[in-house]
Amino acid sequence: MANLTINGKAFDVDVEPDTPLLWVIRENIGLTGTKYGCGIAQCGACTVHVDGVAMRSCGVQVSEASGKQITTIEGLASDAGLHKVQQAWIDNDVPQCGYCQTGMIMAVAALLKEKPKPTDQDIDEAITNICRCGTFQQVRQAIHLATNV
Ligand code: FES
Ligand code: FES
Repeated sequence: MANLTINGKAFDVDVEPDTPLLWVIRENIGLTGTKYGCGIAQCGACTVHVDGVAMRSCGVQVSEASGKQITTIEGLASDAGLHKVQQAWIDNDVPQCGYCQTGMIMAVAALLKEKPKPTDQDIDEAITNICRCGTFQQVRQAIHLATNV
């Protein structure tokens, strides 16, 4: 049994301790905004925040996430509205197929919390998510747009 707090709500899930957090988020909790891409912590499609840090949830065992605050794309906006990264994504028309974009947005939101005005080099180092549609330039532009909000 794992006790998880996801987007501010508590969940008890009956799974093996080494079950990937991604599986639990999607299959047990039913939050499907977090995507499965590679399953080996390479592509970033499954990125969520664990205690505010961007983590690839396919590579996190549910036992490691127990007792921590987990935020998925469904919990990123607040009552005040969309997160500034979500708004910048809309304003800059970033998504193509969209599959990688929830992970991309979660990775960027964590970066901007740590570095509110990242340089291109900071972005290159921190945002290593893979986008098969090649939206990297739009992503970079939207990150800079979000920093001006
Ligand atoms: S599915 Fe987790 S990094 Fe690719
Ligand atoms: S928008 Fe299609 S994979 Fe990134």
